[in-house]
Amino acid sequence: MKTRASWGSRAGFIFAAAGSAVGLANIWRFPYMVGSSGGAGFIGLYLICLALIGFPVFLAEVLIGRSSQTAPASAFSRLGGGPLWRWVGKGIILTGFLVSAFYSAVAGTIVGYFVEALRGNLTIFSSAGETVAHHASLVDNPWWTVSFHFAFILMSTFILISGVRKGIERASKIFMPLLYIILIGLVIKGISLPHSWDGIKFLFSPDWSQITPMVILLALGQSFFTLSIGQGTMITYGSYLPPRENVVTCTLPVVFMDTLVSLLTSIAIFTIVFSVGLKPDAGPALIFHTLPLVFSQLPGGYFLAILFFLLVFIAAITSEISAMEPSIAYLIDEKKMKRSTAVVCVASGAFLVGIPCALSWNILSGFKIFGRTILELMDFMATSLLIPAGGLAAVLFVGWFWTHHAAFEEARKGNEEFFTKHRWFAFYFKWTIKVIAPLLILLVFLSASGILG
Ligand code: PHE
Repeated sequence: MKTRASWGSRAGFIFAAAGSAVGLANIWRFPYMVGSSGGAGFIGLYLICLALIGFPVFLAEVLIGRSSQTAPASAFSRLGGGPLWRWVGKGIILTGFLVSAFYSAVAGTIVGYFVEALRGNLTIFSSAGETVAHHASLVDNPWWTVSFHFAFILMSTFILISGVRKGIERASKIFMPLLYIILIGLVIKGISLPHSWDGIKFLFSPDWSQITPMVILLALGQSFFTLSIGQGTMITYGSYLPPRENVVTCTLPVVFMDTLVSLLTSIAIFTIVFSVGLKPDAGPALIFHTLPLVFSQLPGGYFLAILFFLLVFIAAITSEISAMEPSIAYLIDEKKMKRSTAVVCVASGAFLVGIPCALSWNILSGFKIFGRTILELMDFMATSLLIPAGGLAAVLFVGWFWTHHAAFEEARKGNEEFFTKHRWFAFYFKWTIKVIAPLLILLVFLSASGILG
């Protein structure tokens, strides 16, 4: 029998998982949320959510994967879950697949903007109205959105088809350091600009009046999406770890690297935006409307624009492959497909399902279900309902079904010294996984589905 794929080293896992975690949520969503939700107050809230929910769920998922050594559906049954848990696992895999479809439609526009940057089309603006019109002229064109969606899936397919070690691990080991280099370059550039201090001040002085229950929920949702939890990715990536690998040393650096990227990107964007006297509160349009105007006014803006969109592209592609991988692992582990066949099936599916999303900006913009376009609906369903549900399932499974005693014994494997030295960790592990994370997720879940109004 062929042996199952695995990472070449612990660093391989850390880079791949960090590649998955660092994505559009760090470079796009985090800065605009900070910009429109009160600066440092939001950051503080987000860090609390990370400690109480994000990290425990992340740990639970990697543990499920590492202990079961298989794709999410059979992972639950191998650890003692019944047929119902298998279905939960399948639902989790499906969530990952849906994410990979709409994520690609959105990331396609980033590839398109990267091409625009190369062609010098992002440095020609003198007013906000012009950048808005330029953005609209691009996304109004169905060929533009669909072909870049296709190009993005195609590039992901090439990486995935080369395998776990030679594809995902190798790409992440090249892309992640590159991402940090570009990011640090942009931060240095930002800080060296006149008035950059205003941006830093904005970022690190909290405006508590902006912290509303809705903002708390946004921070909770962000901590989920940014760590790629709740949809099978971390279970699958954990399943490629050797059975005795130390889960704590594998997971902590990933959370740290992910948070660092969110903070550094915010520093880069805010110093640059404030340096030309603009405001960072444009919401999701920050990178399409505000930044091109900034690039047009700064010396060297042409290169800054290229580097910025390259950064976003790198972050997005290492996330996209990780959203597709659970479905691929499922087809290989349970349907006994060859890796290449599985990759082509999942990629074609994600492309097809992503088409209506890519058309949601143009041809299908008037087609609304519950007041949302198809893209908005899929994004909402995944981020606010399915992903929290998947995360909830993981902590409930580990805390109550597999039981935290058994899970804790698993977590100790290869880790005995750490757990003897840091006794508080056992306490943290038990209470966050068993009680705090499930309760808080339930709260997000209920309020997002409108039950709490
Ligand atoms: N973590 C990725 C980001 O920050 C998004 C993602 C979610 C990727 C789920 C894969 C799986 O953008």
